Amino acid sequence: MKRKVAFITGVTGQDGSLLAKFLLKKNYIVHGLKRRASSFNTGRIDSIYEEHQLKNKKLFLHYGDLTDSLSIYDLLNKIKPDEVYNLGAQSHVAISFINPEYTTNVDGIGNLRLLDAITKLKLKKKIKFFQASTSEMYGNQKKILNENSKFEPVSPYASAKLLAYWNTKIYREAYGIFASNGIMFNHESPVRGENFISKKTTKAVAEISLGLREVLYVGNLNSYRDWGYAGDYVEAMWKIMQYKKSDDFVIATNKTHSVRKFIELAFKRVGITINWKGQGIKEIGYNKETNKIHVRIDEIYFRPNEVEYLKGDYTKIKNSIGWSPRINFSMLVNMMVDEDIKNLKKSTIQFKSDK
Ligand code: NAP
Ligand code: GDD
Repeated sequence: MKRKVAFITGVTGQDGSLLAKFLLKKNYIVHGLKRRASSFNTGRIDSIYEEHQLKNKKLFLHYGDLTDSLSIYDLLNKIKPDEVYNLGAQSHVAISFINPEYTTNVDGIGNLRLLDAITKLKLKKKIKFFQASTSEMYGNQKKILNENSKFEPVSPYASAKLLAYWNTKIYREAYGIFASNGIMFNHESPVRGENFISKKTTKAVAEISLGLREVLYVGNLNSYRDWGYAGDYVEAMWKIMQYKKSDDFVIATNKTHSVRKFIELAFKRVGITINWKGQGIKEIGYNKETNKIHVRIDEIYFRPNEVEYLKGDYTKIKNSIGWSPRINFSMLVNMMVDEDIKNLKKSTIQFKSDK
């Protein structure tokens, strides 16, 4: 049987790297878009580079950028993939307030560059398209969200993603492209970027437990997120692409937890009970047994606008496609803490043997 060919933007990111591994296991040929950087940015896929890129010739990385129409057009023309997963993005909400124009260009217009190239190259019958849409598009509604909920973005990131969401629908309806949105709620893994609250917390907890630091500085402790496992979410992306028709689907767990709870659970994994004292920016989290302060608030992590509460209803994808999350919240937190401790121990041993 002919092997399917996938093209992944954002292949060097959390989801892109997990999706590349998932598709290679399914015998796909995988092409990925990577940005030129002054230092290596392929750390998350280095483990599959030798086997699949060098030996089996199943993984190909191409320089390009979502802000560069020429490279997008050229690559789609050369690769002519069966499936395009648009996962590339400036994906940090707080940073989108600092770089709003760039974020809109990459996250909003980047999607349009891909969709338009697919139509202009007359590949609309061949290519299926997946857009990594986000629960941030809903903004602050404080209720359970599904595909019929209204969108009220409150950050440049969310409005850029909403542009991409709409163009995905518009190109589907106007040109008949198989183009689907996965409206994904927060999802994490051991390879999550280190400036998202999950990874920032689990890495700090691992360091504190090994005596390498004492304090974690954070912003808003009281927002709620619907946190799932990224490995489950890349499976959902693939299933959406295999479904009989293109459509829009919420990918979520239908559970929500506060940032505070995430931090408490991560410390619990290393045997530390965190108690809280004080209010606002003076609030501290301290070790119930030793009284040592391990969590402090730093205003720099507050956002100009905050989404306070996210919880997604995944009934549609469950009933139509048969996807449900496998990893729950506490399994996710424990997995991330354990992996960070393992990696830290490895690098400490490595450092000692290098000396
Ligand atoms: P991530 O780890 O930040 O990865 C983003 C990827 O996009 C990286 O490979 C990055 O390259 C690449 N990228 C950034 N700017 C680019 C540009 N100008 N041109 C080409 N590539 C560019 O994000 P993620 O967590 O894997 O998320 C994947 C996608 O899902 C993103 O679109 C995100 O917005 C969306 N999403 C994520 C979540 C979540 O909770 N993770 C939820 C909803 C939606 P470098 O490695 O060079 O930086
Ligand atoms: N990053 C960060 N750093 N967030 C903090 C901190 C901190 O020190 N302290 C508190 N928070 C709070 C944020 O204010 C937010 O309410 C919550 O923790 C989660 O923040 P992030 O982990 O940065 O994720 P996000 O929810 O803003 O965005 C992620 O999920 C979206 C889907 O809902 C990203 O992956 C987006 O790309 C994605 O679209």
